[in-house]
Amino acid sequence: MKKIPIQTLLPNSLVSATVFLDDQFILLTPETPVSETLLRLLRNWGYTQLQANEGLKVRARTEPVATDMPSGRLPDDSEEPSNREETQKFYSGILEFTHKLFDAFMKRNIVPIEPLTDQVKLLVNMMRSHKRHLLDLGGLDRGGFSYIVSHSVNVAILSVAVADTLKLPFHKMIEVGMAGLLHELGMFKLPDNFQTANRTLTEAEKRALLAHPLLGYRTLRDLGFPPNVTLAVLEHHEKEDGTGYPQGLTGDKIATSAKILAVASAYDAQTTSRPFRVARGGHASLLSMLQDIRKTYDEQILRRLVVTLSIFPIGTYVELKNGCLAVVFEPNPDDFKRPDIRLLTDESKSPLTSYPMLRLIETPELAIARALNSEELKQLRADRILPA
Ligand SMILES: [Fe+2]
Repeated sequence: MKKIPIQTLLPNSLVSATVFLDDQFILLTPETPVSETLLRLLRNWGYTQLQANEGLKVRARTEPVATDMPSGRLPDDSEEPSNREETQKFYSGILEFTHKLFDAFMKRNIVPIEPLTDQVKLLVNMMRSHKRHLLDLGGLDRGGFSYIVSHSVNVAILSVAVADTLKLPFHKMIEVGMAGLLHELGMFKLPDNFQTANRTLTEAEKRALLAHPLLGYRTLRDLGFPPNVTLAVLEHHEKEDGTGYPQGLTGDKIATSAKILAVASAYDAQTTSRPFRVARGGHASLLSMLQDIRKTYDEQILRRLVVTLSIFPIGTYVELKNGCLAVVFEPNPDDFKRPDIRLLTDESKSPLTSYPMLRLIETPELAIARALNSEELKQLRADRILPA
């Protein structure tokens, strides 16, 4: 790797080797056109030098630079495409596993502990090796599985992520992950499985629903699951102020693992669309949950979720204070308000032709002003300012 002055890059030129913003972040990949806007931004941010792989050549580009934004998902991991594919493969696998687990439970009343433990061990290992991709839940294909399957998997993923930031020992992370996958198991004991119906429940059904933590607890206890798992399932709808169910426990009496499930479950529920409910964005969901801190959720646990996801979770579209639009790429554990982002437009909302990755922690002048809401996103996509 060698340092290159920014003047090496000419507008509308092509580079033959990867150019880096710093030791870590790729600015341009080979054959990516250098746009005028990108050069202007780099100058505005005070960059005078970049880094590039050996053998860099810059040549003029004969055809005009495309200004169309690509359709579909952003190439946010062009440097590591296999990681996203591996994560999707794992996610599809754990959805399939959970679907079969619930099916076996409904038909034969069994929940085999060993394969479940193995599956959750895989999840914990994936969390350590593919965290960024795994926490981009909105970017993963849920494959048409029922809500209760995808919700259970997502709660297990988020719970393990929170347990990881709490630095719980490996066996505790396994227990939290198992409880996440199984926390709604009691639903299958309710009449006619109305809980899987994609509709608003009747008042009588809502009352019956309150039994599911206890039903899940008894089932798992009788099947020989460890107390830490059964207790988390029993208490996952308890609230800090004692207004939860089934026991009305107050904060100090609720198991930590149950508190983790509570925040993970609420976050996934709020960010998932159902036929009877429009999903909120990750940022709006976290803000709404923070309003209930100490009343519904444990303060420390909810703050760990915020740190894990950042207050602007991965995949959130944001406007910076200088007017640029960007998408959140990776949380920053040192400052949850300043995640790493990919820049999508310049200050005047003109789409960029490549998407430079920036660490907001290192560019204080580029703080996030706000998250975009779903209506704005729809309009910006229709106007081809953001990718469809
Ligand atoms: Fe529940």
